[in-house]
Order: sequence, then structure tokens, then C-alpha cells
Amino acid sequence: MLSNLRVLLIISGGIAAYKSLELIRSLKAEGAHVRPILTKAGREFVTPLSVSSLAREKVHEDLFSLTDESEIGHIRLARETDLVVVAPATADILAKMNHGIADDLATTVLLATDRPILVAPAMNSRMWENAATQCNIANLKSHGVMTVGPALGELAEGEFGIGRMAEPAEILLAVEAVLGNPLSGVRALVTSGPTYEPIDPIRYIANRSSGKQGHAIAGACARLGADVTLVTGPSTEAEPLGVSTVHVETARDMLRACIDALPVDFAICAAAVSDWRPESVHGQKLKKGQAAALPANLRLVENPDILATLAVRENDRPKLVIGFAAETHDVVAYARAKLASKGCDWILANDVSAETGTFGGDHNKIHLLTRDVESGVGIEEWPQSSKRDIAARLAERVARVLGAAA
Ligand code: CTP
Repeated sequence: MLSNLRVLLIISGGIAAYKSLELIRSLKAEGAHVRPILTKAGREFVTPLSVSSLAREKVHEDLFSLTDESEIGHIRLARETDLVVVAPATADILAKMNHGIADDLATTVLLATDRPILVAPAMNSRMWENAATQCNIANLKSHGVMTVGPALGELAEGEFGIGRMAEPAEILLAVEAVLGNPLSGVRALVTSGPTYEPIDPIRYIANRSSGKQGHAIAGACARLGADVTLVTGPSTEAEPLGVSTVHVETARDMLRACIDALPVDFAICAAAVSDWRPESVHGQKLKKGQAAALPANLRLVENPDILATLAVRENDRPKLVIGFAAETHDVVAYARAKLASKGCDWILANDVSAETGTFGGDHNKIHLLTRDVESGVGIEEWPQSSKRDIAARLAERVARVLGAAA
């Protein structure tokens, strides 16, 4: 599955462009978002209407379109994607890519992007075998451009040879190989749920956390190939597939389980850890008549802060430490303060005031705060979405930072 992954598809001018329509259909069926760019020559083979109808997206064609540039400029087109696919990739576009020529929207985006690029060459076999094309393709590969095909077969001119564009199913497999498991080999730790802090064998202090968001995050990271340990407080959520789940009750147990899971490449603390615990736990059930003694016996002491502890580990600090900030007011200001005080790298701030229904509910509205040594704190507003979608978006965001490095 390519759920919520973004593909920027450049269709250049070759007869194989008709197969790109099928490619769009297959990418969409796998859950990808497809944003198409059609070159001037590509337009001779497929119409913008058929491309946009299948992609359910606007087709971008012109570098100097005032409307397009004011809505989504070529730099955003180049960056707001997980992968750029050029299919078909003609000899001409490959040559321009190799020489850094940017004379239309497609080639400008290809020069401006910092995302992985996959090309599916398609041309006459003589053009493919020409030393110039071979030299261009070898250079592009040495710069990290990935290729799929071309295949041997019947060509447009009735000739037979190598130059036929790979079939859409094969291109889809190549896309999945690049994007499907971007967190493969990456180790993750996720905390989830509330903690229970016992007063006596029967009673405890807890909060309304359901564990939905943390469990969804653990599942989303595992779907991208990460090796995930989920440390969860009591929750009725099902254990996510493909994740090793450790069940704990108290904050101190959660901290121990987290430290046992180290080293990891990234940690996401989504648990609503109880800030305090009773200083002493009664060994036997407190009886009604003992209520008068409670205030004295219910002295609360602060629990360890798991997120802050992970963020200051000396030798095994995860490369990326991510926390949540559950706030009922002044959401971004408090989140900014937490980013600094906890020493973590990213904070997902959410409004948990009763009217939002976030705590225990299925939806969440996130402000993502990222700390960058050079550029300070960045803030992204995510639209109100299901906790599942937020989990997928976060896992992809992590994959973009850590996936390539792993
Ligand atoms: N957190 C943690 N250990 C704690 C308390 C919080 O790991 N003992 C983590 C949470 O998992 C979350 C982040 O810290 O990622 C912020 O939690 P939050 O409850 O919003 O804030 P607190 O630190 O508890 O501060 P306050 O309650 O004063 O807002």
C-alpha cells in the first residue's frame, strides 16, 4: 500500500504516455496521491482532461502560469512530494536532466527537487543505445536517479528492440520498492495510553487517554517497515499488527520499559503519563472509615518525565525524539515552551479541551513544531483529521528525515 504517499508524475512526450494513464489509476488504487505534470510534447499524446480525471488533481503544464505559480509554485511542486516519477522519460528529458537544463515546468521541477526520482525511459531502440543517451543515463544513475526499464519488445514504429517503457504494474512495483518500506531497518519506540498510579490495591489515579493516537502511530510506523516497540499503559485498543507491545501500568514501569527498548532510531511519546503518583501505596484496601486519614496519605509526588529522560540520554539518545503537548488553551505557546524544556526535536501540539472531543475521541487537530538548530522553530498546521491519518502523516514525515539515512 502507498496510503497517503505523494507521487509527482511527469508525463513527457512519447507514445507510451497512454500507459501513464493506467499508472495513475494503479497508484491511486494503492492509496497514493498523484499530482501530474504534463509537458508540451506529452500533451500531444494524452489530454490534460484524461490525466486530471484519473488523478483527480489539477494538471500542471506551464512554468509561467500566473495562476499556478500563485497557487502552488514550481518549488512547492518539487518539494511537496515523496517521489518524482518521470514516465515516460524521453531521450530529450533525460538529456536535459543530466545537463541541468530547466526550460519548462517539468525540467525546472526536476532540477529543483530534493526528493527521490524514478525514471521510466521510453524511446526508439537506436535512441536508447546511442552513446549520448547511455552516457546521460549512467550519469543520472550515479547521481542517485533510479530507473525502471526500458524493456525489450515491439516499439511504436513497428520495430523490435529495447526501448519500450516498463509496464505500469512494473513501475508501480518500483514505486513501492522506493516508498513502501522507507523505514525498513529503522527502530522505533512509541508510548501510548494513560498510566495508572495506585492508591491501594483497588484504586488508582488515571486520566481519560484512550491510547488511540499512540497505537495508530505504532501501526503506521510498522506499515512503513519500522521495527516498533510500543510501550502502553492500560488501553482497550487492539495491539497493532507487526509491533512488539509491552504492557505497563505506572509511569515508572513505562520509563523502565522504554529504557529497556533502547537503542532506537526514533521515539514518539504519545502516552498521557500521569504527572503525579501517591507517595505511598497502601498494601491493603483502604476502608470507608479510613477516609479521614486520606488527605495525609495521599501526598502526591512527581513522576519521572519519560520524554525528557529520553531526550537527554547521553550515549543512546534516539536521533529523533518526538512528544505531544496536550493543552486546553494557548496551545502553540505551551508547546513551544515544552519543546525547549523537554529537549525534544518535534512536538505535536493538540487542543484537548472538552469541546474538541480529542481526548478519547477519533479525531485530532495538530500543530507540528520542529526545532532546527539553524532555522529555529518551524510550525506546521495540520488539518483536523482522524487519528489514523495523523499517524500516517507523522510516520511519513519521520521517514523523510530518517528513512534515507538508515
Ligand atoms: N510525558 C512523559 N512523561 C511524563 C509526562 C509527559 O513522557 N511524566 C510526555 C508525554 O507523552 C507528551 C509530552 O511529555 O509527549 C507532554 O505531555 P503533556 O501531558 O502535554 O505535558 P506535561 O509534561 O505533563 O506538562 P503539563 O501537564 O504541565 O502540561
